[in-house]
Parts: sequence; C-alpha cells; structure tokens
Amino acid sequence: MIFMYIDTHCHLSREDYDDIDKVIEENKNANIDKIVVSGCSRESIEEVMDLKDRYDMVYVTIGYHPEYADTVTESDLDYLKSLLGEKKIIGIGEIGLDYHYTKENKDKQIWLFEEQLKIANAFNLPVVIHSRDATMDTINTLKKYKVKGIIHCFSGSLETANIYISMGFLLGIGGVVTFKNSKLKDVVKEVPLESIVLETDSPYLTPVPFRGKINSSKYLEFIANFIADIKNISVEELAEITSRNASSLFDFDR
Ligand code: NI
Repeated sequence: MIFMYIDTHCHLSREDYDDIDKVIEENKNANIDKIVVSGCSRESIEEVMDLKDRYDMVYVTIGYHPEYADTVTESDLDYLKSLLGEKKIIGIGEIGLDYHYTKENKDKQIWLFEEQLKIANAFNLPVVIHSRDATMDTINTLKKYKVKGIIHCFSGSLETANIYISMGFLLGIGGVVTFKNSKLKDVVKEVPLESIVLETDSPYLTPVPFRGKINSSKYLEFIANFIADIKNISVEELAEITSRNASSLFDFDR
C-alpha cells in the first residue's frame, strides 16, 4: 500500500540548504506528498512565495513570528494582506507568543499576534501557532478570536493539550517526541489521533537518530514510526489519519 505524509510545518531557506532541488527530490523518495513551508519574516515570506511557484509539493503559510514583534510595522501587515489572495497560501503563521528570551515586549507581541489573528479571521484562513513559555497568554488570546489551526511543535502537558483540543486546535507533533528526555510521548499516548498532525520544523529539531544533523522533511517517517509505536497502530494508518487531519484543516486546492 502506498501511503504519503504531509509535513505540516517546516522552513526551507537557501540560508540553510545549498540545494533545494535535491531536498525536494529526497522528500519525494521519503513518501512526502506535501510540505507546508512557513515564511515568518519579511525576507522569508518573499522567499517562500517563490518556492511555492517553483515546486508542486510546496504550500505556504505566512505571518510574522513573535521574535520580530519589535520591528514589524503596519506596512508589513499590509504587505501580508496583499499576498493572501494568491494560490497555495493556505494559512497564517507561524504567529504567536515567545517569552523564552524576553517578555519585556509582551504587549507588542500580543499586539502583533492579535493583528494577525484578525487577518486570519477576515480571510478565513487557519493559523499556525508558535507558543513558547507563554501558554496562558496564548490560550487567552486565541479565545478572543474565532480561528482554527495547529499548535505547532506542541510539547506541553496533557492538561494543556486538552484545552487546545477543546478549542478545536490540532497539535503539531515533531522530532521532540523522539527525544529521550522528553515527556511528550506520554502526552501523545493519551491524545486522540484525530487531533494530531505531523511536522518536522526543519531545519530545526531533528528527530532521533539524526540529532545533530540538519533536519529535513525526509525524516518525517522517523517521527511517524515513533508515534505509530506509541499509539500501537501501523505507520500506514498513522500516515492516513494525520494526512486526513491536515487536509481537513488546510485547503490544498487553493
Ligand atoms: Ni517553525
């Protein structure tokens, strides 16, 4: 049986990969059907717009990452909006809150997050959420807007997982689940399969046994195998369910 994976979140920049043609070829050979590439700065948005036109398997989400909260302007938001009618732009992200390095600019982060949630709402697009050390503010902000989406790189507790699931969000599970010291596997075990999508977040968070190497969508199968094991189902079944989950959120016909 042929089964295909969807990498629901990754980055694909010439800064990280010398030969993107080769990356795409390797993905095809690793049963990757589609990859959702995130452009999350002004420069990377321009870069992903080109990638989606160049490669069939590439779909994109665009939006400003919280790390740019101090520099994003109204005109950057207008630029974002001006692109949203284009083909293969299937969501807004990654957007959210990141208090890991600083929460001094918390108000600015929340402003940027809310502006982009309003855009997602207005254009009826799903969101890809980045939340680091900011769970409560993320939940409270999301509750104010009617949006659907993915909690990208979810690595929180079962309690947090259940809150997001009850709000209609999917959990993006990636390489962290394979890390020896991660408790994520215990959470994934308890979460319904209907709420899980797969992601690599490449070039970051490379799964075991490739930790230390640059990550790529081609390693998604190692994440899938690991989760299938935890859930005690075949990897074919996991691929089918998670691809279906992704396709019901993202409109890949756009
Ligand atoms: Ni990312």
